[in-house]
Amino acid sequence: MTVSSAPGKVYLFGEHAVVYGEPAVPCAVERRATVSVDAREDDRVRVTAPDLSLDGFTVEYGGEGDDRPDVNVAQGLVEAGIAYVAAAVEQARDAADAPSAGFDVTVESDIPLGAGLGSSAAVVVAGIDAATRELGTPLDPEAVAERAYRAEYDVQDGHASRADTFCCAVGGAVRVEGDDCRRIDAPNLPFVVGFDGGAGDTGELVAGVRSLREEYGFAADTVGSIGDLVRRGEAVLAEADPTDDPPESVLAELGRLMNFDHGLLEALGVSSRSLDNMVWSAREAGAHGAKLTGAGGGGCVVALDRTEETETALRFTPECEDAFRAELARGGVRVEE
Ligand code: PMV
Repeated sequence: MTVSSAPGKVYLFGEHAVVYGEPAVPCAVERRATVSVDAREDDRVRVTAPDLSLDGFTVEYGGEGDDRPDVNVAQGLVEAGIAYVAAAVEQARDAADAPSAGFDVTVESDIPLGAGLGSSAAVVVAGIDAATRELGTPLDPEAVAERAYRAEYDVQDGHASRADTFCCAVGGAVRVEGDDCRRIDAPNLPFVVGFDGGAGDTGELVAGVRSLREEYGFAADTVGSIGDLVRRGEAVLAEADPTDDPPESVLAELGRLMNFDHGLLEALGVSSRSLDNMVWSAREAGAHGAKLTGAGGGGCVVALDRTEETETALRFTPECEDAFRAELARGGVRVEE
């Protein structure tokens, strides 16, 4: 059996604008999806995922006349979970040139689902890593990222960016601009996450921004402003010592830029009452800055705070279902002993 894990991620800056070619900076965080893969004698695939729904689920497919489940992400998170695992298995089979390899797969995750923390990317990345290792053909993290991107592209009908899969595979802070993805230096960023228990519909939210841009030309300037603040944020990160805790001045400037980013995302119509309330709770508790992370519409906010104040305040915010500290994960996908 091979067990691999991959971290989730938050967007420090730049979601939505990245769709229009602006740079974005996602950062891996210490919340992981763990995938265990056991090669089978036959060509079937059995997926057990205790954390992907309230009751957990098991599904088995493969063999003659029983193809990979054809499920659409819009059908819901549980079905989507199966689709992502199945797409990861396909990529691993292809990488190992073993089209009929069978597996028992178990998925465990402490990343909130579909909430802007890269839950599906982490599962796909860890799944491809574990399955290729199990077949004796391990890939380096960049190759895992490329295959994970193809898997997400496949499940999401062509609507996937490389940001999540690259970040979850290589870890740390990442810069994404179009197809160009690279690691960048970042100090130990003290992230705090608030989760409203919900999930946004990424496709709908991205389409909403597109029609806003079409209807109101100046919305393109809003997107461009996000790109400008991302470039400013990159310069701030580059000045800080990547091996140390950042000075207050760096956190203060990053926080200001996060607040700016949230305001622009709000203007683009992708925030929600619960996300805004959590953002304001974090700010009032003394966070350096706070913003939604990911597609928006519901899900998670991310704040910067070294103290316990923001996490405590979020816990007392009615719209917040869970709050936790999520330090920058320096490592990406890895084998678990
Ligand atoms: O919600 P997430 O983590 O899947 O992030 C979506 C990010 C967007 O920029 C809105 C879409 C994309 O594909 O980049």
